[in-house]
Amino acid sequence: MAEVIVLESPAAAGAFVAAHIAAEVRARPEFTLGVATGSTPLPVYEGLRAQAAAGTDFARITAFALDEYVGLPAGHPESYRAVVDREVTVPLGLDPARVNVPDGALDGIETAGDRYEAALAAHGGVDLQLLGIGTTGHIGFNEPGSSFGSLTRVKTLTERTREDNARFFDSIDQVPIHCVTQGLGTILRARHLVLLAFGEGKAEALAAAVEGPVSASMPGSAIQLHPRVTVVVDPAAASRLRFREYYRWAQDNKPEWQGI
Ligand code: PGA
Repeated sequence: MAEVIVLESPAAAGAFVAAHIAAEVRARPEFTLGVATGSTPLPVYEGLRAQAAAGTDFARITAFALDEYVGLPAGHPESYRAVVDREVTVPLGLDPARVNVPDGALDGIETAGDRYEAALAAHGGVDLQLLGIGTTGHIGFNEPGSSFGSLTRVKTLTERTREDNARFFDSIDQVPIHCVTQGLGTILRARHLVLLAFGEGKAEALAAAVEGPVSASMPGSAIQLHPRVTVVVDPAAASRLRFREYYRWAQDNKPEWQGI
């Protein structure tokens, strides 16, 4: 069972998760953070900027992103490489040489997944992986049907995901059809998963991922197989959780020594 924490707002959730990450980084400056893109993790990055301003030094951490679009021109502002640089690398003062994003360039795309897996393995994996969840139930860009054993590879985005992400582009036609994404098997190797979800639009996918049957039809349900998962959500995203009263009770009675 994942630990489910309901906080009053995305800002509160972001500050909470950022405080945890910052404490880990202060204890172990070579921490490895798995970063996610999209709107959901932005409050965490805002919280991390506040932690950096308050004195936490992120210069020695390593970051690995979950996924990247295939075929966007290098430097495209909506490529996840550009998003991670803008939201994470620059404002937190990370060493750019330690920030890894899958290579979505068409030239050499056949080997992009294997190269990313090799980089992850050579580094020793991810300590804490931030995750959002798509309305399709994807984590990373693992759309329904993704194998729980899958590793980083090229996937085809669903039309629904392309529609959801069209807001970042001038039109849906500009949203790439393919991506390179860490597999569910890759994600499950991270030592701690922190899944965030905000808003009513995520309530159904969140409930299915956290409480529904474990199924490749709901890729987010893979988190139920992981020994250490923290789900941090706002009340709207939590609204369809069947056991939400229990989650609150568990939080109210959490042993003092227990972290997340
Ligand atoms: P979002 O996307 O944070 O932009 O809603 C989440 C996801 O697709 O994983």
